[in-house]
Amino acid sequence: MVKTAPAASTDHAAHLLGLQGMPAAELRGLLGAAWRMDQRLRREPASCRDALSGRVVANLFFEDSTRTRTSFSVAAKRLGAEVVELIGSTSSVSKGETLIDTARNVASMGVAAVVTRTKQSGGAHGIARAFDTLGPACAVINAGDGRHEHPTQGLLDALTIAEALDRLESFDFTGLSVAIVGDVISSRVARSNVAALTTLGARVTLVGPPAMAPASLSALAPGVEVGHDLDAVLPRADAVMMLRIQFERAGEGNPAPGEMPRKLPAMASVREYRERYALTTERAGRLKPGAVVLHPGPINRGLELDQSVADGPASVILRQVALGVAVRAAALARCVLGREAF
Ligand code: CP
Repeated sequence: MVKTAPAASTDHAAHLLGLQGMPAAELRGLLGAAWRMDQRLRREPASCRDALSGRVVANLFFEDSTRTRTSFSVAAKRLGAEVVELIGSTSSVSKGETLIDTARNVASMGVAAVVTRTKQSGGAHGIARAFDTLGPACAVINAGDGRHEHPTQGLLDALTIAEALDRLESFDFTGLSVAIVGDVISSRVARSNVAALTTLGARVTLVGPPAMAPASLSALAPGVEVGHDLDAVLPRADAVMMLRIQFERAGEGNPAPGEMPRKLPAMASVREYRERYALTTERAGRLKPGAVVLHPGPINRGLELDQSVADGPASVILRQVALGVAVRAAALARCVLGREAF
Protein backbone atom coordinates (compact mmCIF):
# COMPACT_ATOMS: atom_id res chain seq x y z
CA MET A 1 0.00 0.00 0.00
CA VAL A 2 1.18 3.55 -0.68
CA LYS A 3 1.40 5.12 2.78
CA THR A 4 1.94 8.80 3.29
CA ALA A 5 4.94 9.62 5.43
CA PRO A 6 4.52 12.61 7.74
CA ALA A 7 6.60 15.79 7.80
CA ALA A 8 8.17 15.22 4.43
CA SER A 9 11.21 17.29 3.52
CA THR A 10 10.16 16.77 -0.09
CA ASP A 11 6.90 18.31 -1.34
CA HIS A 12 5.31 14.95 -0.73
CA ALA A 13 6.71 11.64 0.43
CA ALA A 14 4.97 8.27 0.67
CA HIS A 15 6.07 4.67 0.81
CA LEU A 16 5.31 1.76 -1.53
CA LEU A 17 5.90 -1.32 0.60
CA GLY A 18 3.52 -3.98 -0.70
CA LEU A 19 0.36 -4.83 -2.62
CA GLN A 20 -1.31 -6.99 0.05
CA GLY A 21 -4.36 -5.10 1.29
CA MET A 22 -4.12 -2.40 -1.36
CA PRO A 23 -7.67 -1.38 -2.39
CA ALA A 24 -8.66 -2.07 -6.00
CA ALA A 25 -9.09 1.63 -6.77
CA GLU A 26 -5.56 2.42 -5.60
CA LEU A 27 -4.12 -0.51 -7.53
CA ARG A 28 -5.96 0.55 -10.70
CA GLY A 29 -4.79 4.13 -10.13
CA LEU A 30 -1.16 3.00 -9.98
CA LEU A 31 -1.54 0.83 -13.07
CA GLY A 32 -3.19 3.67 -14.97
CA ALA A 33 -0.41 6.04 -13.97
CA ALA A 34 2.20 3.49 -15.07
CA TRP A 35 0.50 3.03 -18.44
CA ARG A 36 0.30 6.79 -19.00
CA MET A 37 3.96 7.02 -17.98
CA ASP A 38 4.87 4.35 -20.55
CA GLN A 39 3.10 6.32 -23.29
CA ARG A 40 4.75 9.60 -22.26
CA LEU A 41 8.23 8.11 -21.96
CA ARG A 42 7.86 6.67 -25.45
CA ARG A 43 6.08 9.55 -27.22
CA GLU A 44 7.16 12.70 -25.42
CA PRO A 45 10.10 11.84 -23.15
CA ALA A 46 11.06 15.52 -22.84
CA SER A 47 7.81 16.16 -20.93
CA CYS A 48 9.06 13.88 -18.12
CA ARG A 49 12.64 15.09 -17.94
CA ASP A 50 12.16 17.66 -15.17
CA ALA A 51 9.67 15.75 -13.00
CA LEU A 52 12.28 14.81 -10.39
CA SER A 53 14.87 17.38 -11.33
CA GLY A 54 16.97 18.31 -8.29
CA ARG A 55 15.93 15.18 -6.37
CA VAL A 56 18.16 12.29 -5.44
CA VAL A 57 17.02 8.66 -5.52
CA ALA A 58 19.15 6.15 -3.59
CA ASN A 59 19.20 2.47 -4.53
CA LEU A 60 20.11 0.49 -1.39
CA PHE A 61 20.42 -3.12 -2.51
CA PHE A 62 21.43 -5.70 0.07
CA GLU A 63 20.68 -8.58 -2.30
CA ASP A 64 21.68 -9.07 -5.96
CA SER A 65 19.55 -7.66 -8.76
CA THR A 66 19.79 -7.01 -12.49
CA ARG A 67 16.33 -5.92 -13.65
CA THR A 68 14.92 -4.12 -10.61
CA ARG A 69 17.96 -2.05 -9.73
CA THR A 70 18.70 -1.12 -13.34
CA SER A 71 15.12 -0.19 -14.11
CA PHE A 72 14.76 1.96 -11.00
CA SER A 73 17.96 3.76 -12.08
CA VAL A 74 16.74 4.19 -15.65
CA ALA A 75 13.31 5.34 -14.45
CA ALA A 76 14.75 7.90 -12.02
CA LYS A 77 17.09 9.27 -14.70
CA ARG A 78 14.26 9.50 -17.24
CA LEU A 79 12.48 11.75 -14.69
CA GLY A 80 15.56 13.91 -14.23
CA ALA A 81 16.61 12.64 -10.79
CA GLU A 82 20.16 11.96 -9.71
CA VAL A 83 20.78 8.37 -8.65
CA VAL A 84 23.17 7.00 -6.07
CA GLU A 85 23.83 3.30 -5.79
CA LEU A 86 24.79 1.50 -2.60
CA ILE A 87 25.41 -2.24 -2.81
CA GLY A 88 25.23 -4.12 0.48
CA SER A 89 28.48 -6.02 0.07
CA THR A 90 30.47 -2.80 -0.42
CA SER A 91 28.65 -0.80 2.27
CA SER A 92 29.37 -0.47 5.99
CA VAL A 93 26.78 -3.20 6.58
CA SER A 94 29.80 -5.50 6.07
CA LYS A 95 31.26 -3.87 9.23
CA GLY A 96 28.12 -4.57 11.25
CA GLU A 97 26.04 -1.45 10.60
CA THR A 98 22.31 -2.20 10.64
CA LEU A 99 20.11 -1.78 7.56
CA ILE A 100 18.13 0.90 9.34
CA ASP A 101 21.20 2.90 10.37
CA THR A 102 22.53 2.59 6.82
CA ALA A 103 19.26 3.76 5.31
CA ARG A 104 18.86 6.67 7.79
CA ASN A 105 22.41 7.85 7.11
CA VAL A 106 21.95 7.76 3.34
CA ALA A 107 18.54 9.45 3.54
CA SER A 108 20.00 12.18 5.77
CA MET A 109 22.02 13.37 2.80
CA GLY A 110 18.87 14.95 1.33
CA VAL A 111 17.59 11.93 -0.56
CA ALA A 112 13.97 12.04 -1.78
CA ALA A 113 13.45 8.27 -2.08
CA VAL A 114 15.23 5.14 -0.93
CA VAL A 115 14.64 2.06 -3.08
CA THR A 116 15.65 -0.96 -1.08
CA ARG A 117 16.03 -4.71 -1.49
CA THR A 118 16.72 -6.84 1.54
CA LYS A 119 17.24 -10.54 2.23
CA GLN A 120 15.00 -10.14 5.28
CA SER A 121 11.23 -10.16 4.94
CA GLY A 122 10.01 -6.85 6.34
CA GLY A 123 13.29 -5.01 5.64
CA ALA A 124 11.68 -2.13 3.75
CA HIS A 125 8.90 -1.91 6.33
CA GLY A 126 11.45 -1.57 9.14
CA ILE A 127 13.25 1.22 7.28
CA ALA A 128 9.94 3.03 6.58
CA ARG A 129 8.89 2.74 10.24
CA ALA A 130 12.23 4.17 11.35
CA PHE A 131 11.95 7.07 8.89
CA ASP A 132 8.41 7.83 10.06
CA THR A 133 9.24 7.78 13.76
CA LEU A 134 12.88 8.93 13.88
CA GLY A 135 13.36 10.68 10.52
CA PRO A 136 14.56 11.73 8.08
CA ALA A 137 11.41 12.21 6.01
CA CYS A 138 12.03 10.20 2.87
CA ALA A 139 9.98 7.86 0.65
CA VAL A 140 10.73 4.13 0.84
CA ILE A 141 10.03 1.81 -2.08
CA ASN A 142 10.29 -1.93 -1.50
CA ALA A 143 12.32 -3.52 -4.29
CA GLY A 144 11.91 -6.99 -2.77
CA ASP A 145 12.08 -8.11 0.87
CA GLY A 146 12.97 -11.75 1.42
CA ARG A 147 10.08 -14.04 0.53
CA HIS A 148 7.51 -11.40 1.40
CA GLU A 149 6.70 -8.85 -1.35
CA HIS A 150 8.02 -7.29 -4.55
CA PRO A 151 5.31 -4.70 -5.25
CA THR A 152 6.70 -3.07 -8.39
CA GLN A 153 7.17 -6.54 -9.92
CA GLY A 154 3.53 -7.33 -9.11
CA LEU A 155 2.48 -4.06 -10.76
CA LEU A 156 4.56 -4.58 -13.89
CA ASP A 157 3.25 -8.15 -14.22
CA ALA A 158 -0.35 -6.93 -13.92
CA LEU A 159 0.33 -4.17 -16.47
CA THR A 160 1.89 -6.67 -18.88
CA ILE A 161 -1.13 -8.97 -18.57
CA ALA A 162 -3.52 -6.03 -19.03
CA GLU A 163 -1.71 -4.97 -22.20
CA ALA A 164 -1.41 -8.48 -23.64
CA LEU A 165 -5.00 -9.51 -22.85
CA ASP A 166 -6.74 -6.22 -23.67
CA ARG A 167 -7.69 -5.04 -20.16
CA LEU A 168 -5.99 -1.62 -20.24
CA GLU A 169 -9.28 0.30 -20.29
CA SER A 170 -10.59 -1.10 -17.02
CA PHE A 171 -7.79 -3.07 -15.35
CA ASP A 172 -10.63 -5.46 -14.54
CA PHE A 173 -9.30 -9.04 -14.77
CA THR A 174 -12.65 -10.75 -14.19
CA GLY A 175 -12.81 -13.90 -16.33
CA LEU A 176 -9.03 -14.23 -16.64
CA SER A 177 -7.25 -17.27 -15.27
CA VAL A 178 -3.60 -16.97 -14.22
CA ALA A 179 -1.35 -19.90 -13.26
CA ILE A 180 1.74 -19.16 -11.15
CA VAL A 181 4.04 -22.15 -11.44
CA GLY A 182 7.08 -23.44 -9.58
CA ASP A 183 8.82 -22.48 -6.35
CA VAL A 184 5.87 -20.48 -5.03
CA ILE A 185 6.75 -20.86 -1.36
CA SER A 186 10.04 -18.95 -1.83
CA SER A 187 8.57 -16.27 -4.07
CA ARG A 188 7.88 -12.68 -3.08
CA VAL A 189 6.88 -12.16 -6.73
CA ALA A 190 4.12 -14.73 -6.32
CA ARG A 191 2.84 -13.09 -3.11
CA SER A 192 2.64 -9.62 -4.70
CA ASN A 193 1.03 -11.09 -7.81
CA VAL A 194 -1.56 -13.02 -5.84
CA ALA A 195 -2.51 -9.80 -4.05
CA ALA A 196 -2.72 -7.72 -7.23
CA LEU A 197 -4.31 -10.27 -9.55
CA THR A 198 -7.04 -11.40 -7.13
CA THR A 199 -7.88 -7.79 -6.26
CA LEU A 200 -8.26 -7.07 -9.98
CA GLY A 201 -10.63 -10.05 -10.31
CA ALA A 202 -8.48 -12.80 -11.83
CA ARG A 203 -8.72 -16.46 -10.89
CA VAL A 204 -5.26 -17.44 -9.60
CA THR A 205 -3.96 -21.01 -9.34
CA LEU A 206 -0.61 -21.74 -7.70
CA VAL A 207 1.01 -24.85 -9.16
CA GLY A 208 4.06 -26.82 -8.06
CA PRO A 209 5.20 -29.84 -6.10
CA PRO A 210 3.62 -29.92 -2.62
CA ALA A 211 6.81 -28.71 -0.94
CA MET A 212 6.96 -25.66 -3.22
CA ALA A 213 3.19 -25.06 -3.48
CA PRO A 214 1.69 -26.28 -0.20
CA ALA A 215 -2.09 -26.18 0.21
CA SER A 216 -1.67 -23.56 2.97
CA LEU A 217 -0.85 -20.96 0.28
CA SER A 218 -4.55 -20.86 -0.61
CA ALA A 219 -4.86 -18.59 2.45
CA LEU A 220 -2.88 -15.86 0.65
CA ALA A 221 -6.09 -14.36 -0.76
CA PRO A 222 -9.75 -15.36 -1.09
CA GLY A 223 -10.34 -17.65 -4.07
CA VAL A 224 -6.70 -18.66 -4.59
CA GLU A 225 -6.39 -22.30 -5.62
CA VAL A 226 -3.38 -24.58 -5.20
CA GLY A 227 -2.71 -27.47 -7.58
CA HIS A 228 0.04 -29.98 -8.24
CA ASP A 229 -0.88 -31.00 -11.80
CA LEU A 230 0.34 -28.42 -14.32
CA ASP A 231 -1.11 -30.35 -17.25
CA ALA A 232 -4.59 -30.03 -15.74
CA VAL A 233 -4.28 -26.27 -15.15
CA LEU A 234 -2.46 -25.23 -18.33
CA PRO A 235 -5.27 -25.54 -20.91
CA ARG A 236 -7.51 -23.05 -19.08
CA ALA A 237 -4.81 -20.46 -18.22
CA ASP A 238 -4.84 -17.11 -20.04
CA ALA A 239 -1.46 -16.24 -18.51
CA VAL A 240 1.20 -18.59 -17.17
CA MET A 241 3.80 -17.11 -14.86
CA MET A 242 6.80 -19.38 -14.47
CA LEU A 243 8.95 -18.93 -11.37
CA ARG A 244 12.64 -19.57 -10.82
CA ILE A 245 13.61 -22.22 -8.31
CA GLN A 246 15.35 -20.20 -5.62
CA PHE A 247 18.26 -22.44 -4.72
CA GLU A 248 19.81 -19.70 -2.59
CA ARG A 249 16.78 -19.56 -0.30
CA ALA A 250 16.82 -23.35 0.09
CA GLY A 251 20.47 -23.16 1.18
CA GLU A 252 21.61 -25.15 -1.85
CA GLY A 253 23.76 -22.47 -3.44
CA ASN A 254 23.45 -21.48 -7.07
CA PRO A 255 24.59 -23.71 -9.93
CA ALA A 256 27.55 -22.38 -11.93
CA PRO A 257 26.52 -20.46 -15.07
CA GLY A 258 25.38 -22.92 -17.72
CA GLU A 259 25.44 -25.89 -15.33
CA MET A 260 22.38 -27.75 -14.13
CA PRO A 261 22.04 -28.02 -10.37
CA ARG A 262 22.75 -31.42 -8.83
CA LYS A 263 19.86 -31.30 -6.39
CA LEU A 264 16.58 -29.42 -6.15
CA PRO A 265 15.24 -28.13 -2.88
CA ALA A 266 12.45 -30.43 -1.69
CA MET A 267 12.30 -32.32 -5.00
CA ALA A 268 13.72 -35.71 -5.93
CA SER A 269 15.50 -34.72 -9.14
CA VAL A 270 15.80 -32.18 -11.92
CA ARG A 271 14.35 -34.77 -14.29
CA GLU A 272 11.25 -35.23 -12.12
CA TYR A 273 10.78 -31.45 -11.79
CA ARG A 274 11.10 -30.92 -15.53
CA GLU A 275 8.74 -33.77 -16.32
CA ARG A 276 5.99 -32.42 -14.12
CA TYR A 277 6.44 -28.62 -13.85
CA ALA A 278 8.62 -27.21 -16.64
CA LEU A 279 7.03 -25.24 -19.44
CA THR A 280 8.68 -27.30 -22.15
CA THR A 281 8.27 -26.78 -25.89
CA GLU A 282 5.90 -29.74 -25.97
CA ARG A 283 3.80 -28.50 -23.05
CA ALA A 284 3.67 -24.95 -24.43
CA GLY A 285 2.04 -26.42 -27.55
CA ARG A 286 -0.99 -27.12 -25.35
CA LEU A 287 -1.41 -23.52 -24.19
CA LYS A 288 -4.77 -21.92 -24.81
CA PRO A 289 -4.73 -19.80 -28.01
CA GLY A 290 -3.69 -16.26 -27.12
CA ALA A 291 -2.29 -17.26 -23.73
CA VAL A 292 0.89 -15.47 -22.65
CA VAL A 293 3.96 -16.66 -20.76
CA LEU A 294 5.61 -14.51 -18.11
CA HIS A 295 8.73 -14.94 -15.98
CA PRO A 296 10.08 -12.34 -13.53
CA GLY A 297 13.67 -13.39 -14.25
CA PRO A 298 16.34 -14.48 -13.83
CA ILE A 299 15.40 -17.61 -15.79
CA ASN A 300 16.93 -21.03 -15.21
CA ARG A 301 16.78 -21.81 -18.94
CA GLY A 302 16.22 -25.49 -19.59
CA LEU A 303 14.96 -26.07 -16.07
CA GLU A 304 11.62 -24.35 -15.45
CA LEU A 305 11.38 -22.91 -18.97
CA ASP A 306 12.63 -24.11 -22.35
CA GLN A 307 14.63 -21.74 -24.52
CA SER A 308 12.10 -21.93 -27.36
CA VAL A 309 9.27 -20.92 -25.01
CA ALA A 310 11.19 -18.11 -23.28
CA ASP A 311 11.97 -16.60 -26.67
CA GLY A 312 8.81 -17.80 -28.46
CA PRO A 313 5.66 -16.05 -29.67
CA ALA A 314 3.69 -16.45 -26.42
CA SER A 315 6.46 -14.96 -24.30
CA VAL A 316 6.00 -11.43 -22.94
CA ILE A 317 9.08 -11.66 -20.73
CA LEU A 318 11.00 -8.76 -22.25
CA ARG A 319 7.82 -6.68 -22.35
CA GLN A 320 7.61 -7.20 -18.59
CA VAL A 321 11.11 -5.74 -18.32
CA ALA A 322 10.30 -2.79 -20.59
CA LEU A 323 7.12 -1.93 -18.68
CA GLY A 324 9.13 -2.18 -15.46
CA VAL A 325 10.73 1.18 -16.27
CA ALA A 326 7.34 2.90 -16.58
CA VAL A 327 6.01 1.21 -13.43
CA ARG A 328 9.06 2.31 -11.45
CA ALA A 329 8.95 5.83 -12.85
CA ALA A 330 5.27 6.07 -11.88
CA ALA A 331 6.02 4.68 -8.41
CA LEU A 332 8.84 7.18 -7.87
CA ALA A 333 6.69 10.08 -9.08
CA ARG A 334 3.77 8.98 -6.92
CA CYS A 335 5.87 8.54 -3.77
CA VAL A 336 7.97 11.68 -4.15
CA LEU A 337 5.53 14.11 -5.80
CA GLY A 338 2.11 12.79 -4.84
CA ARG A 339 -1.03 11.45 -6.44
CA GLU A 340 -1.55 14.22 -8.99
CA ALA A 341 1.93 14.02 -10.48
CA PHE A 342 1.09 11.93 -13.59
N1 CP B 1 12.54 -9.80 -11.24
C1 CP B 1 13.56 -9.38 -10.45
O1 CP B 1 13.39 -8.98 -9.30
O2 CP B 1 14.78 -9.46 -11.06
P1 CP B 1 16.15 -8.97 -10.41
O3 CP B 1 16.45 -9.88 -9.24
O4 CP B 1 17.17 -9.08 -11.50
O5 CP B 1 15.96 -7.56 -9.94
